[in-house]
This record gives sequence, C-alpha cells and structure tokens, in this order.
Amino acid sequence: MTIPFLDLKAQYESIKDEVESAVLEVLASGGYVLGPKVEALENEIAEYCETDYAVAVASGTDALILILDALGVGPGDEVITTPFTFFATAESISRVGATPVFVDIQPSSFNIDPEAVREVMTDRTKAIIPVHLFGRAAEIDEIDALAAGRGVAVIEDACQAIGARYKGKRIGSLGIAAAFSFYPTKNLGGMGDGGIVTTSDAKLASRIKLLRDHGSPKRYYHSALGYNSRLDAIQAVVLSIKLRHLDDWNEARRSRAARYSKPLGQFGIAVPEAGEADSHVFHLYTARSAHRDAIVEGLADAGIACGIYYPLPLHLQEVYRELGYAKGSLPEAEKASKEVFSLPLYPELTDAQVDEVVETISSVLESIS
Ligand SMILES: Cc1ncc(COP(=O)(O)O)c(C=O)c1O
Repeated sequence: MTIPFLDLKAQYESIKDEVESAVLEVLASGGYVLGPKVEALENEIAEYCETDYAVAVASGTDALILILDALGVGPGDEVITTPFTFFATAESISRVGATPVFVDIQPSSFNIDPEAVREVMTDRTKAIIPVHLFGRAAEIDEIDALAAGRGVAVIEDACQAIGARYKGKRIGSLGIAAAFSFYPTKNLGGMGDGGIVTTSDAKLASRIKLLRDHGSPKRYYHSALGYNSRLDAIQAVVLSIKLRHLDDWNEARRSRAARYSKPLGQFGIAVPEAGEADSHVFHLYTARSAHRDAIVEGLADAGIACGIYYPLPLHLQEVYRELGYAKGSLPEAEKASKEVFSLPLYPELTDAQVDEVVETISSVLESIS
C-alpha cells in the first residue's frame, strides 16, 4: 500500500461542511483582508496560547521578522539560534540585518543546547531564538536564565509546535514573543500561507500591528517603515475551525508516534523522546539511525513516503559561507543531519499504515544485518 507523508485531503473531508460554509460567508461579506474574522482568530489564539495578545501576519517567517524588527534588532546585533531548523529561522535574523550565531543541539531532543548558548553570548547578543523543533518544547528555563538581566530577548520559534506545553505552560507564552506558522502542513495549517505572533507585551503587540500594515496607524498616514504582512479573512475562518480540533489532532499524533516508537526502539533506532506530558506535539516523527539511507531507500521502494529534516545544517549552507563555520564545528547538528529520517505522521494515519511502515523498516534492517 502506498502511504503518503501527509494527507491534507483526508483532514479536509472531516471538516468540509463547516469550512465551506464559513468560507462562503467570507466571500459574500466583501471583507477579505484583516477585519473581524482575523480579530476573532487573534483572540482565540491568544487565549489558547495563554498570552494577552496575538497578531496575525502573512507567514511564520514574517512573524519572526516582525518580532525582531519591532524589538529593534538590526545591523551589528547578534542573535543566537540553532543550525538544525528550517532556514526561515536564520533567514529572519539576516533579513533584519543582524548576524545569526549558531550553536550546537542536544542530540536527544534536536533542540538548542543551553550550555552552548552560554558560551557564545557577548555584548552584541540581542536575542536568542530557540526553536521547538518537530513539535518538541525546547529547554526554555535555562535559556531564560541566561538572558535575564542582560537585556537579551528570548523569542520562541514555535512554528512547528502549536499546542505543546513546557512545564505545564503553553508554548508561545514563554519568551517575550513567539512566532507560529500556519503553512498548510503544520499541526494547525491554513489553506495558504499565514502566521501569528503571540506576546503578553502590549507595546510589542501594537508595534507589530503597526508594522504588518505599512507602519500605518491610520489610513494613508505612516509613522514607520513597515511591511505588507496581513492575514486574509478566508485563512482566519479556516484556522478558527481547525483550532477547535487541534488538541484532538495533537493527541492522535502522539498516539501514532507511540505506536511507531515501541517496535522501532527495539530495532535499535533512536526514536524521538516524547518528554513530559504534552511537551511534544509531533509535528514530525523524526528518528535517527546509522542505516538511515538504507531505510529511506527501502521505504521508497515500498511506496512509503519519508522525509529528511534537515539534510544540511544552516551553518554549512552556501548562503552562510561568509560566516566562516567549518565542517565539524557543530558536530551534533552535523551528525543528526546524516542520521535523521521522518516517517508519515498525521491524525488520519491508520494503525495498519503505521504497522506497515514498521514492518518495512524491520525487513530493511534484517536485510542489511
Ligand atoms: C521552524 C520553522 N521556522 C519558521 C518557519 C517559517 O514559517 P512559514 O513557512 O509560515 O513562513 C517554519 C515553517 O516551515 C518552520 O518550520
């Protein structure tokens, strides 16, 4: 049986009637950009993430850029982050003219290593961006402790982790602000691009609101150089409907992850740690093995989709050659990029499909032992 990596059509079928009537209502309303539906979504997300404010923007990347810009991070500033993430994390730092400083990861969680952060902090450090990678909460307390009292902002890249908790608190409420992505493949995905910033800082929220709409407090009056980064009403209604299902969908992801992990762990594969309750929402099910390439090939031959997130850490990307990181400089991230593979995982994935993936991996490993 062919098993896709993700099945967005199956999710759509399960909420089709609700989504279609809400979208038709927007079409008939004549109001398509920002407006009451976007405000409603902002309120719902702020409540869900346990923050005072949420500001909807055009993408997760923009959410990061707008946070950095609103905090005044720019040329001459350093922002510490992980090299083992989607490119947008570092791209946003470079986009505002600051310099990304990459530090290594913890091999078991794939998240930034707080100890390594400590070692690279300088007077130029303006912010730290931990990423809750694959849906797993990063060690924020230790990072907060490093930043506290030094005027360093902690910005969560929560693009992959909506719904996760860290020590009982919602992801998105842990730093000065957080960036979420509503890209369709995310745990809460729209039907197009979208993103949101959560924060409990009133000044920051209003600055980001200003920046997302051309720095315009009033139509045709501009007090800052901003962006066009507004969310559409159609995306907002789709996301509001999906938000009501998010906790159930995240729970379904967790149970499928557990079904993978039990047997795969016995095959000597390093399976993802679920961590304490709710600290992982399994945006991706990412395991690691020294036999990664054989596993990926065997799965492909069996018609099972598999992904590699991420094959080349950011400090070794061509665009960052000028930063001068040598091969071997961040060994854990580099090792992870050679060993990781991500298996199909979504709420609609059936037990039979999970079992087939497991059996296929089992036969690949038997054939090479
Ligand atoms: C960790 C991380 N940061 C940032 C982004 C950027 O989000 P978007 O694609 O909505 O711009 C993504 C999305 O892929 C992501 O996974």
